[in-house]
This record gives sequence, C-alpha cells and structure tokens, in this order.
Amino acid sequence: MDQLNSNREQWGSRLGFILAAMGSAVGLGNIWRFSYVTGENGGAAFLLVYLLCIIAIGIPIIMAEFTIGRKAQSDAVGSFEKLAPGKPWILAGFMGVASAFIILSFYGVIAGWTVKYFFSYLTGGFSVQNDEAYADVFVGFITSTYEPLFWQFAFMAITVGIVFVGVKKGIEATNKILMPLLAILVVILAGYSLSLGGASEALSFLFTPDWSKLADPNVYLAALGQAFFSLSLGMGALITYGSYLSKKEQLPGAALGVAALDTGFAIIAGLMIFPAVFAFGIEPGFGPGLVFITLPGIFDSIAFGTLFGLAFFFLLAAAALSSAVSLLEVAVAYFIRKFSWSRQKASLIVGGIIFLLGIPSSLGIGPLSDITFFGKDILDSMDFIASNILLPLGGLIIALFMGWGWKKTDALAESDFGDTAIGHAWIFTLRYFAPIAIFLIFLASTGLLDL
Ligand code: PHE
Ligand code: NA
Repeated sequence: MDQLNSNREQWGSRLGFILAAMGSAVGLGNIWRFSYVTGENGGAAFLLVYLLCIIAIGIPIIMAEFTIGRKAQSDAVGSFEKLAPGKPWILAGFMGVASAFIILSFYGVIAGWTVKYFFSYLTGGFSVQNDEAYADVFVGFITSTYEPLFWQFAFMAITVGIVFVGVKKGIEATNKILMPLLAILVVILAGYSLSLGGASEALSFLFTPDWSKLADPNVYLAALGQAFFSLSLGMGALITYGSYLSKKEQLPGAALGVAALDTGFAIIAGLMIFPAVFAFGIEPGFGPGLVFITLPGIFDSIAFGTLFGLAFFFLLAAAALSSAVSLLEVAVAYFIRKFSWSRQKASLIVGGIIFLLGIPSSLGIGPLSDITFFGKDILDSMDFIASNILLPLGGLIIALFMGWGWKKTDALAESDFGDTAIGHAWIFTLRYFAPIAIFLIFLASTGLLDL
C-alpha cells in the first residue's frame, strides 16, 4: 500500500486521525518530562509561561502542520518539496527527521524504564523498607549497564512492530481504549495523592508563582521546549499525520482538541506527582527520575497498590508507545518515499538505527556518566538539543513558511479557518508573533538579551 505514493494510506475515520494525533501528543512528555521540568524550574511561574507557549505559539503551529500535511499529502520532507520546490523551507523537514531520530533514541530509554516498572509490579512490586529506598532501587536500575538496554530494546521492538504493520491498522485501534483508561487512572491517583498531606504545599508550588523565577531566561526556554515536546510539535509528526487525512476534516477543532487534552493531562499529572513529592519530602528538582521514585511511594501506601502500579505503568508504557510510533513514522514515511523502501524494510532499518543511537543515552547515566556536555549527561544533552533547540527552530520555520510562503487566501482556505477574524489572527501570529517570540527566547537563553 504505502510503497506507492499514489495510493497512500488514509485514516479510517475522523476519529481515527484525532485519536492518533492525541496518541502522539500524550506520552512520557506529560507525566515524566512535564513533572521533572516543572520541578526543576520552580513550579507555578514556569507553568504560566508553559501555558502561554501552548496557547500563543503551540496551537497556531499545530494548525500550520495539519494544514501543510493535508494539503501536500506527503511526509515531513516531501511536503515542503511538493508545496515549495527548490525553496529553503525544506530545511524544517530535514531537521524534523533528525529530531525524530534523536528524540526516539532517548524516548526509548525512558519508555524502557516504564516497561521495567510494569514488569516489577507484575511480579509483586517493590519491597523496600522506607520511601527513600525507592530512589535507591531506581538509581541502582538506571545506572546498571545491561538491564536498561534490555527494556529499551523490548520497547523499541514493539514500536517497530506497530510501524511495520502500518499506520492505520497499527495506531488507530490502540488509543481508543487505553488513553481514556490512563486519564481515569491519573485522575484517581491525583485525588489520592492530594490526600497524602502534601496538598497545600503542592498547590502553592504549582499555582502560586514566584515571580522572581521569571528573571531566569532558561525558564522560558524550558517552557518553550516542553510545549513543543509535549505537543509533538515542530518536527513534522503532525505534518505526517495530517497527510493521512482526507479533505473533509475541520482542522481548527482537531488542533484545539489535541492541545487541550495534552495540557489537561500534564496538569493532572502534576496534581498526581507534586502532592506526593512534598508528602514524602522529595526534592521537586530531583530531575528525570522524579516520577519513578514518587509513584512507587504512592502505590505502596494505597490499598491494592500493586494493582494500581501495574495498571499505571502499563498505561504509561502504552501512551509512550503511541508517541514513539509517531516519532518512528516521521522517519519511516520519509525513507519509504525517498528510497522506495517497503514499509517493513524501512521500519526495521530505521528502528534498528534509533535503538543503537539510544544506547549511549542509557549508558551515560551509569558506566559513561563521566561524559557530560555543559554539565548534562548524554541523555539530557540529546533531549536539550532536540527539544529546546531543534523543535522550536523547526516550529519557527514552519510558522514563517505558512505565514509568508503561502498566499494568505490559500492558507486561510486550506486551514478551514476561511476569511474569519480568528483566521487573520492566526496568520498574524505565524507571521510575526510566534517567530519573534521564539527568536527572543533563544536570544535570551544565550545571555545576549538581558531580561
Ligand atoms: N509528545 C510526546 C510526549 O509528550 C513526545 C513526542 C515528541 C512525540 C515529538 C512525537 C514527536 O510524550
Ligand atoms: Na505530550
């Protein structure tokens, strides 16, 4: 089917597309990354900047990606080739494919941890003497050499398996049931976590801004990167998914729905993690391991905790899977078209390379922990380059392409906005606001612009 460009797959239904885009968005970014980045950047002030980035930059660029993908009916690179042959916009496509490789390489490592935790609960959970011991168990696991690689491999193998079978069959079905279940579970756990005694500290950490934090330019860059990462934005994942879409859909509703769900998930995940963080006396800025040391404490203290742990890590791994599938699909769709490979061949080769690329990220936590860049280990460096630099830069180019590279009337028509006030506001945002905001945040984080 996909080998022939003339006969590309399409989503089975309108619901199928929205579910897939939501499945791409909702993942480790909402729970693992959101909580630790929020913790590291001081809570409420960061959250506020993050929400502004979602509304004023994220949603308009989601719309641009959907519009480009549906119009071009091609992959992240091909879409630019088709719509603007010979123009430099295509750089955003190549950066997107590169980002897919980089992000999935470390995403597979963290997702592997969730699979490992799922299996731990399957075999009865963790038996430790006190809450601090969860950190020891976790650190012992991630700093070991082979075990994390095993779980990373297991996760990547399933991801490759799904992309191997094909977008429609592989993705549409999975999300329909598991994502709502994860949402319900996170809400229940948030309710329970809020009863643990850390609620008031957590609520003020999350919702009462310490304005002095806004003087730190890195807070803005972290919020921008988190917004792009969480929305699966700036690398053509949403172009690629939009390309499997027929002309009948209404894009603005879909874009808003994806952003609202993704953001809602993150905030409720925050309400699940932070009350427990304060109740257990964990440092909010603990870093990437935050959820892995906090949640076992919750499961330990709740009735049927092993069952909750089992369900939670299963559903989190499933959410990570639908995001990983969208990352792999960006690269695979490109290689299928570019080299006329079969879907099967492309998934195996690209997936294999990405697994290998992820090995240093995993080892960098343990045996290779001496290797750091600006104080960051290998995984954090990969994440920083992709999420805080490549994605916003890709988004910047996509915004400029849609805003300046298209005739305004075409952009308005193809986006389903039509000649409306909100459509004109959208074009204005793409032309001026989003590019300037992203540029200023970059500039500030280099220290060249004083806040
Ligand atoms: N948005 C996903 C998450 O939050 C990660 C992702 C980033 C997926 C970029 C696709 C592209 O987990
Ligand atoms: Na997300």
